[in-house]
Amino acid sequence: GAPVTEDVSKLEPGGRIMVQWRGQPVWIIRRTPEMLATLSGLDDRLRDPNSDNIEQQPEYARNEYRSVKPELLVLVGTCTHLGCSPTYRPEMVPEPFDSEWKGGFYCPCHNSRFDLAGRVYQGVPAPTNLVVPPYRFLDENRIQIG
Ligand code: FES
Repeated sequence: GAPVTEDVSKLEPGGRIMVQWRGQPVWIIRRTPEMLATLSGLDDRLRDPNSDNIEQQPEYARNEYRSVKPELLVLVGTCTHLGCSPTYRPEMVPEPFDSEWKGGFYCPCHNSRFDLAGRVYQGVPAPTNLVVPPYRFLDENRIQIG
């Protein structure tokens, strides 16, 4: 499939844009400093905190933020369990989960949880982190996916 270009200049902090790439939903989220601050404290609750599974992201997104620019997250919006669409829950505590929820993505099909970098929590059915697709910045605000 052809690459897709998206302008993120109007994307608000905490907001999300959804685009289609190769028939898949791709999310672009502008994380706030508060959202980014949640990522460092979660390692012992995550299955692959350091993105050791190199299938799940390009090398340039193999960092704590799982992104090129820390604030801008680009993810394939498909659960790595059986392909449902996780919901974006930046703050809300998804019942029946605990009050330690720091925000992220929640898959309603079988209760998988992911943090605000798409990293999967331990003890849920999804085996791996959400996929970061290949992408690059054409300039300050334009992202080319694919
Ligand atoms: Fe998401 Fe099963 S498809 S938890």
